[in-house]
Amino acid sequence: MVIMTSQLIIILNKKFWFFDMKKQRARLMFLTVGAASLVGTALIAGILASLPTVAPAAEKNEVNLYSYRQPGLIKPFLDEFTKRTGIKVNVTVAEKGMLERLKAEGRNTPADMVLTTDIGRLSAIADAEMLRPVKSEVLERNIPAHYRDPKGVWFGLSVRARVLFVSKDRVRPGEITSYEQLTDPKWRGRICTRSGKHVYNISMLAAVIAEKGEAEAQKWAAGVRENLARKPQGNDRAQAKAIAEGVCDVAIANTYYMALMTTNKKSPEQQKWAAATRVVFPDLNGHGTHVNISGAAVTEHAKHPANAVKLLEFLSEDFAQQMYADQNFEYPVKAGVPLNDLVASWGKFKPSTLEISKVAKFRPLASRIMDRVQFNK
Ligand SMILES: [Fe+2]
Repeated sequence: MVIMTSQLIIILNKKFWFFDMKKQRARLMFLTVGAASLVGTALIAGILASLPTVAPAAEKNEVNLYSYRQPGLIKPFLDEFTKRTGIKVNVTVAEKGMLERLKAEGRNTPADMVLTTDIGRLSAIADAEMLRPVKSEVLERNIPAHYRDPKGVWFGLSVRARVLFVSKDRVRPGEITSYEQLTDPKWRGRICTRSGKHVYNISMLAAVIAEKGEAEAQKWAAGVRENLARKPQGNDRAQAKAIAEGVCDVAIANTYYMALMTTNKKSPEQQKWAAATRVVFPDLNGHGTHVNISGAAVTEHAKHPANAVKLLEFLSEDFAQQMYADQNFEYPVKAGVPLNDLVASWGKFKPSTLEISKVAKFRPLASRIMDRVQFNK
């Protein structure tokens, strides 16, 4: 039985279960009654009226963030947020296993908000129903619709393109211009990539499915595998290294790694890897380059949801967007925010406007296709 308010009553086993939907969390109580069959609407109304009205507790001036992003990358934003709002941000960095941790903590989780890279990680948490929808004009204004969940469950905050790094010496400009061409026999034994099961490659294949359908996507994945120079291994930077060492001529990698290698003072050898390679923005199905997001969401069991929304909004505004561009070498989601000079130097490209939510939807199928074509074997 549903009462058309923010509250829900269920009669089960002669007990009333009362859920306070407004708070979407820990408020649950039950009241035993003699016989459920005798209970009428009037009684339900009476019970509702007799329940104490509890004013929502004021949120403390803090917000707890679980982050896949490195502290160095996000600290400057968060410090500025605290300076402007007085809200302290407590960060827990999770290299791996954020979903498992949230599941284990359940409603007792301290996390108000999650910050991740790649839609794969964000949608896994969304699919486990651990996030709550947010309605915000600021977010809707700043973030194009294809970079956020249609129901407001997650929001993209920066964009990275999954591109080709090609050998400056062995691949001529214009010689490869699309993802489709990766299956051309001319590239036999010349392509390098990390694991086909890594979230970045799963999302890329999911975009191919969304564009071309399952059968074509499977053919494509098998064709790329056929052209690999070696078993998939290492991270994206390791593929640039392989090009510099002559192991392969074309690699699949995310844009910001080119900038991270080019500017790497701690490991100058990475500058050599970058210097040996050039960024190519490939086209997919005539719709532009496959892009992914780093994004954020408010948790289902957030204890400081209003503060979390404030932080989410702050991350979509000019100050933080400029930092995504300059510190993380990503593409801002907000229109009009200038690119970092180094990133701009790779040239203009057409980012695909395929909804990231569609990419998310096809990820499980993409993972199965990678297995079917034995991409990693
Ligand atoms: Fe990455």
